[in-house]
Amino acid sequence: MSGLPSEFLDLVREKNDIVDTASKYLTLKRRGGSYWACCPFHNEKTPSFSIKQDGQFFKCFGCGESGNVINFVSKMENIDFMSAVELLAKNAGLQMPSDKDASEMQRLKQERDRMYEILKVTAEFYHNNLINNPNSKQANYLKSRNLSEEMIEKFKIGASLNYDDLIKYLLKRGFKAEEMISAGVAGREKNSIYDFYSNRLIFPIFNSFGDVVAFSGRSVEENPEHAKYKNTPQTLIFNKSETLFGYNFARELKKQHMLDSIVIVEGHIDVIMCHQVGITNTIGCMGTAFTPLHAKRLKQLVDNVILCLDGDSAGANATYKAIDTLKSSGLNVRVVRLTGAKDPDEYIKKFGKEKFLEFLENSIDCVDFVLQDSAKKYDLTSNFDKNNYINQALNYISKFSTPAEQEIYLNEVQKLVKIPIDALRRSMNNTAIAVQAHEPELEQTQENLKDKYIVDSKILILAGILYKKIKNVENFSGFFNTDDELSVLYRYLSEKINNNKDFNASMLFDNFDINSKSLIDKVINFNFPQDELFNKLLNDTTKRLNIYMLEQEKERIKTLMFNCSIDERDGYLKKLQEITEKINKEKK
Ligand code: UTP
Ligand code: MN
Repeated sequence: MSGLPSEFLDLVREKNDIVDTASKYLTLKRRGGSYWACCPFHNEKTPSFSIKQDGQFFKCFGCGESGNVINFVSKMENIDFMSAVELLAKNAGLQMPSDKDASEMQRLKQERDRMYEILKVTAEFYHNNLINNPNSKQANYLKSRNLSEEMIEKFKIGASLNYDDLIKYLLKRGFKAEEMISAGVAGREKNSIYDFYSNRLIFPIFNSFGDVVAFSGRSVEENPEHAKYKNTPQTLIFNKSETLFGYNFARELKKQHMLDSIVIVEGHIDVIMCHQVGITNTIGCMGTAFTPLHAKRLKQLVDNVILCLDGDSAGANATYKAIDTLKSSGLNVRVVRLTGAKDPDEYIKKFGKEKFLEFLENSIDCVDFVLQDSAKKYDLTSNFDKNNYINQALNYISKFSTPAEQEIYLNEVQKLVKIPIDALRRSMNNTAIAVQAHEPELEQTQENLKDKYIVDSKILILAGILYKKIKNVENFSGFFNTDDELSVLYRYLSEKINNNKDFNASMLFDNFDINSKSLIDKVINFNFPQDELFNKLLNDTTKRLNIYMLEQEKERIKTLMFNCSIDERDGYLKKLQEITEKINKEKK
């Protein structure tokens, strides 16, 4: 992003119609709802470069380039974004933002600096609490986890002892209640505010430079009413989907040329325990799914990662998803699946550092892992299953490997299914063609088809919102409460709507990293059927998504029931009953 106020960019785009601007460089022909030309950014004879006037953006279906009028001029003139803005502003007789706007940016910067300050002061406060109260329940809990003093210092671990000490302290230091709330350290209840992490053991989260940007507070009591961890929500300086726990330390290692791979674990305590025994190239994903931004961050430091997530079935699912995201960003991914302990912390405590290192040594390549692990789901003595497995495996291989690697992986499959390697090679070539012809499709399991359906549905809804075919945007908020790019887009659009601000497709290019592979690109280029059909589609989609969400809730409750008390059981059963009724109602 440029740092220019978004209102100014809106104005520049408004005053420079993309079709008028592009006509100065290209001969455009109108066809259907779009303007067409031969793409100026790659060599071609038949036009695949298109401009949509209503959306004010271009896209080349040949080379995949896309953007708004600013991106277009910047590419055409071979100048940077800022110079393109200047050129277009001049063209439209607009003054570049004055000092007054600069002062707005100054204000934002001050707000951000102030937030860093609150978090720093708060972290020190918590840390001192822990050090000065060695008999507190937080300190005792920490002792029971065997973390060393050195680690308590390195990770600046702390404690919140009650609801109000922090608030009093911050007020005394001159911070206002509003500032505490927006920094995520205080919560509000009725007319008073309280320490958001009260009574918890505190793990500060650092950005890549080592500044505290958030906290995770772990409950130190066995109270099922309390979430195990309470985390800082999104703030001006903290974005969960690009932050990794311990990244700052890995970055330091890199600077000293002492980093060639990163071990990825789930929990805070896993990271700290690994550091304690000297495995300092460990970082934590804090229990959330990997995003492409996380992967990009990792790729900036290393080419090789070892995934060592929890041993339970949630960890297994997370491993499959993580492989996909990390491998797609070009990382070499190796996998270990823990046995004999639920997580790295427990493993190290039970078996020691040497055994854990040995375990990491024996990590296997992620494609091998998927081939071997997914084979367990099939009965390879039945021809039907064997065939399904082979299809799935070959699909996976052609998605993720170079021709040289393919031969190795085919040998792997051959060992499992015991059919001649030549036959596999031939099928492989057919698969490769099929995969090229269609969008590459990961494992054609029920689960994945369902995922694809969900994503397609969300794209349909977002396109409807973006092109103003959907009015009651709030109705869909339940489908977009995660961290993926589509949810972020939903929140961006609904914020505009709630503030009565106008929006269109071209704005998205200023605010999102859009390339031909991103889902937002699919939203922008959505092919609408006629309105009547669209409304029907929307109706069906909403129904099916609702059912899907309810089914997920059902699964969640079933897991909770797995280890709940007899008393709780009845409550859960009742909830299950209610959800089933709702599902039946939706299905009608
Ligand atoms: P775990 O439940 O494995 O926690 O969740 P842990 O840190 O290993 O703690 P112990 O060892 O069981 O005491 C892994 C990570 O998932 C996130 C936290 O970042 C945690 O470290 N998490 C977990 C949450 O954010 N909220 C939760 O309620 C639970
Ligand atoms: Mn754990």
